[in-house]
Amino acid sequence: MTAPPEPRLRAVIQSAAEKLLTARCADDLDEARLEADLLYGEAAGLDRSHVIAAGGDPPAPDTLERFQALLARRLGHEPLAYILGFREFYGLRFAVGPGCLVPRPETETLVEAALAAIREHPRARRIVRVADVGTGSGAVAIAVARHAPSAKFFATDLSTEALAWAGKNRRTLGVTERVVLLAGNLLEPIGEPLDIVLANLPYVPTDEFEALPEEIRDSEPRLAVDGGDDGLAPFRSFADQLAAHIADGPVAVLMEIGAGQALFVEDLIRAGLGRDDCVTTIHRDLRDSRRVVEVRCGYPPAELAAGG
Ligand SMILES: C[S@@+](CC[C@H](N)C(=O)[O-])C[C@H]1O[C@@H](n2cnc3c(N)ncnc32)[C@H](O)[C@@H]1O
Repeated sequence: MTAPPEPRLRAVIQSAAEKLLTARCADDLDEARLEADLLYGEAAGLDRSHVIAAGGDPPAPDTLERFQALLARRLGHEPLAYILGFREFYGLRFAVGPGCLVPRPETETLVEAALAAIREHPRARRIVRVADVGTGSGAVAIAVARHAPSAKFFATDLSTEALAWAGKNRRTLGVTERVVLLAGNLLEPIGEPLDIVLANLPYVPTDEFEALPEEIRDSEPRLAVDGGDDGLAPFRSFADQLAAHIADGPVAVLMEIGAGQALFVEDLIRAGLGRDDCVTTIHRDLRDSRRVVEVRCGYPPAELAAGG
């Protein structure tokens, strides 16, 4: 009897994608195929284009075994980024794993707005002092630092596990000198006056947290996601600390928010700053949701900042 023909990689990927879709690990077949390609690439040490190019070949038995083990983890709803060990954010590769939130694409809105706030700050030609509160993997501080060479960063987190990931990313991405990592509550560990404060704090109300997909609720740290009864508990404590930590002169505070939180968060930030020379901007993300509240105080008018 002749042995049955070995399956081609294309068929292996298709079957894995169908399983991922059935297990609700992906929203559609395209996303499921992408995940299957990435998992196979991880097992084989190939990037996605090479996985696709090898579609007509039968996979090597040991690679197939490694792939099936990774697929089983994913079918058990472990986050894809934890299995792969990284997530791309703002064009950079961040190492992630248990203990830190996987950076989300919508947080790139905070990075974009932060870069503009630094560029337009009157100290921009000297050193702008920036905080990233609740830094997690370090995604925000590090992405901004890579594009703002005149800024110095103080990145805090209550979680020492998260700070270990941030430390690794700070090293790999070459900004160790300019990103100081500090363990502690919100702004408390920072001893320098700040020109710009960035924060992506937990903002999901507790009852919504319980209804989140299994892979977020059971794998990512609750401390990174659950914002208490109305989702705003960490924002209130943050606002109470603001006045003691900001510099005299121009300052900006930028916070990522969830649905329906913009007005509450604007009020909290303004009350916390206690200044009467402030202007608010709400930035929308790529899905057109209100995603970042920015309050600038004492900045020169835009035409003056532009030299007009
Ligand atoms: C939504 S995650 C953001 C992580 C990262 N900045 C990002 O955008 O991907 C919130 C982070 O805040 C941290 N955190 C929660 N409460 C905190 C507190 N009171 N002080 C400092 N960090 C806190 C969590 O550990 C978590 O890393």
